Amino acid sequence: MRTPRPRTAVLALLSLALSFLAGASTVPAAHAAAATIASYDFESGTQGWEPRGSGVSVTAATDSAHGGTRSLLTTGRSATWHGAAVTPPFEKGVSYQVTAWARAVAGQPSSTVALTVQRTPAGGTTVYERVAAATVTDSEWVRLSGTYTYAADSALSLYAESSGETVAFQLDDIVVTADTDPTRSGLTSDFETGTAQEWTARGGATLTPGDGFAHTGAYGLGVTNRQASWDGPARTVLGKMAKGSKYDLSVWVRTDSAQSLGLSVERRLDGTPAYERVAAPRALAAGEWTRLAGTYTLAHDVDFLSVYVESAAGTEPFAIDDFQLTYVEPKPIQTDIPSLKDSLPFTVGAAFYRGATLGEHAKLITKHYQSVTPGNSLKWDATEPAEGDFTFADGDYLVDWATTNGLEFRGHTLVWHSQTPDWVFEGATKEILLQRMENHIRAVMGRYKGRIGTWDVVNEVIDENRPDGLRRSPWFEIAGLDYIRTAFRVAREVDPDATLVINDYNTEFPRKRQALYDLVKKLRAEGVPIDAVGHQLHVNVEQPPTSFIEDTIEKFAGLGVEQQVTELDVSVYTDFVTSYDTVPAEILALQGHRYREIFDVFRRQADHLSSVTIWGVADDATWLSSFPITRTNPPLPFDDELQAKPAYWGIADPGRLPPLTRSLNAPAGTVTVDGKRDDEWNLLPDAPIARIGDLSAGWQARTTSAGLYVLAEVNDPTDNKNDTVTLTVGGTPYRIQRGGTHAHGFRAHTKKTATGYRVEALLPSGTATGVKVVVADAGGQQISWAGELTPIPAIRTTRAPKRTPVVDGIVDAAWNQAPEITTGTRIQGTSGATAKVRAMWNSGTLYVLARVTDPELSEESPNAWEQDSVEIFVDPQNNKTKGYDDDDGQYRISFTGRQTVGGTFDAFAVKENLTGAATRVPGGYVVEAAIRLPTVTLAKDALLGFDIQVNDAVGATRAAAATWNDPTGRGYVDTSRWGVLQLVK
Ligand code: XIL
Repeated sequence: MRTPRPRTAVLALLSLALSFLAGASTVPAAHAAAATIASYDFESGTQGWEPRGSGVSVTAATDSAHGGTRSLLTTGRSATWHGAAVTPPFEKGVSYQVTAWARAVAGQPSSTVALTVQRTPAGGTTVYERVAAATVTDSEWVRLSGTYTYAADSALSLYAESSGETVAFQLDDIVVTADTDPTRSGLTSDFETGTAQEWTARGGATLTPGDGFAHTGAYGLGVTNRQASWDGPARTVLGKMAKGSKYDLSVWVRTDSAQSLGLSVERRLDGTPAYERVAAPRALAAGEWTRLAGTYTLAHDVDFLSVYVESAAGTEPFAIDDFQLTYVEPKPIQTDIPSLKDSLPFTVGAAFYRGATLGEHAKLITKHYQSVTPGNSLKWDATEPAEGDFTFADGDYLVDWATTNGLEFRGHTLVWHSQTPDWVFEGATKEILLQRMENHIRAVMGRYKGRIGTWDVVNEVIDENRPDGLRRSPWFEIAGLDYIRTAFRVAREVDPDATLVINDYNTEFPRKRQALYDLVKKLRAEGVPIDAVGHQLHVNVEQPPTSFIEDTIEKFAGLGVEQQVTELDVSVYTDFVTSYDTVPAEILALQGHRYREIFDVFRRQADHLSSVTIWGVADDATWLSSFPITRTNPPLPFDDELQAKPAYWGIADPGRLPPLTRSLNAPAGTVTVDGKRDDEWNLLPDAPIARIGDLSAGWQARTTSAGLYVLAEVNDPTDNKNDTVTLTVGGTPYRIQRGGTHAHGFRAHTKKTATGYRVEALLPSGTATGVKVVVADAGGQQISWAGELTPIPAIRTTRAPKRTPVVDGIVDAAWNQAPEITTGTRIQGTSGATAKVRAMWNSGTLYVLARVTDPELSEESPNAWEQDSVEIFVDPQNNKTKGYDDDDGQYRISFTGRQTVGGTFDAFAVKENLTGAATRVPGGYVVEAAIRLPTVTLAKDALLGFDIQVNDAVGATRAAAATWNDPTGRGYVDTSRWGVLQLVK
């Protein structure tokens, strides 16, 4: 005979929790346990069930039973809600499974019998929450089953009712189960009790539960009188998280004045605290409720564990509500897919962290990777936070774990300008600084001698925008190049067997490539022991072209230096403002194809590459979710749940990639089909068709009523008449041989070029936009592009003569030589300010004159783009990239002469390029600008990406805006629709 066990179950749960809170200083690893919380078989009586509704009676009757000899008989009902009720043994934050058996008493009609929870929050309105229901007849026992999560403090009743007002029914074998492990049951704080629900202030802040702070329900928690940015509400979660388990954490926050709020965890062991971000602080607008959310994996032993909300700066008040902690059930990794390490001819590794050495993450690492590198644990701030005070706990743990698991280890990084404590540079002469550096290298490298085989000795020392190509870090400012020389010399002394690496990002871009190349060449010639160049390779789904990566590897191969890819990831964004709620499947497919092209390069260049490290284990932990802004950005081969993405298949088995539909802008335009490259083709870069072996190509299209003009530039060094380009438009293939032979019915011409051949053709296209381009060489190699054309208007062009004006806001005669363009493309509003614009150039500078018609001028808005102003967009190389290259600039001058500059996220390469002046004139204003373009050598005939935008403010908002060419309104993040400016004599 079974008995109801609600109280005991609760007590057992509590004592389990207490035993490890009190006894041990560590939290046990999670273990699965679905336990019966209560069961009611009515063999011993009504077991706590009571009548619900007047006239109702409940008895443990023997006339029928599902199991045993008795069931709970409910009679005397006269309303649908009449029935039998019990106080359920539910614990807040826990999810329960409830099953029961029901049957109508013989002769009673069929009805719906339901189990429902009646829940009354303190001071709130009663709600009725359905748990399970089924159609019940008098002919057999029917099973009811459902789940219930008790989320908020309330008075509870669980009851059975029937849609038949007078139906008498029986219940039996009611079983409530739950996951009793408190580290899996989660936690909710809704403050509906009108209390702080165990939230306390971290500093002296005042926490006020109250009805002025409710996100939902009647109450929330006000946070005022904060003493510091880190002072705010905190809730202990010790005992609610297990080491190695992952949790979703979220909380709603509201601030009265704009500020940045974030969610963090503080953990301690033996009094040593550590702080970890769950949701990086994000800028919040005043007055709105926003959800801060993130996941957290407890990767450490702890004896204190707390979640808290803090601000990025300041002590402004805020409110919180509806906090939730939820256990995330790990998905097993896929064991039936190829291991990445088996399919690659070089060492493949991943950046990792403590949490990734546990559970499924650990399995993923050891299945796919041969090498690991810590994302943060060996950086200076982690290893020597105060002088001579070394902290190796995480480093030791990770190196031990890797060694135990037979993994190679890359050390990252000894000398860097970032994540380096201030003390390192404080009061440092060159001698002191180099001594501190030497001490650091000796201690850190020495500790792991023989176990860390490769070290990033110096990181990110290049600044290609400096004449000498060297970053102006405190290292450089204090010690010049000697800091690099000393770092390598000391590193070699400490461990002569270690591979010593100079590591940097953007090394695939030509200017940075060159600057790094020059430095490595020079230092190696001096005898500085640089063994290898590390290419970080933080790229995105579109940029830069894969050919840049290959060019870089080939260039450094010429130096005879070892090369490694050290931090590969592929952002799904091409700019720093876009943010997807859910990343579209097409973008993940595109990312897969991008991984494929990149790994094609790596495989081709395997002789020059000793290793490739991917910057993370899986998308659930990547630096790109908070850099350069907080957003969902899954850049890795494995998703949040450690499952293989298209990115993985792009590396392991491209045959399994989802098909990709590319897209290409096809401007209106005409060319002469004669095999010569018309100027029109130079208005856009050729769209690359990926390389295989020696075969690569680029192509373009122009639309006219006569059909589709197509250009293909093929690189194929071995000339064979069976080399072909096949253009399929709207399903019809047009095949053109390298020698020019093609079928009748369309025009085409080919011509030999320095690296292969060019095809020009005019194809009948009708309205078809689907195009496939297949380039094949006689040897059987084939490359292709398939996708959709987007017809766009002709690209506007203008010219800039070589003259120098006086830049003072007064229109001098020199301008008469320059043709005038106007801002005729409306991107906001239907009327408003316009500008007449001219451009000139001389030596390294572009000059722009804008005469704006705008009788009412305002700078009231705090946002520069919402003030009356002129924006000049310049891409010195006319690359027409989605997103900005680092020398692309958005240069803005307001009617009062205020200057602002936009570019890549901190505009570091362009922010000093602009000078200018503005003057008011009747009916408007005049802007003159001088824009230095130091990244290119300006010369006659050069083409620049160029556009103009006029912002028309009315009061504190922008009412209208117009451009010269770009109709998208996205010119500030995307250069692909700007017009073209040609430099002339
Ligand atoms: C990043 C880490 O991944 C982040 O966790 C940390 O907050 C910032 O640093 N180039 C480098 C790496 O060399 O060390 C950086 O790692 C990413 C850019």
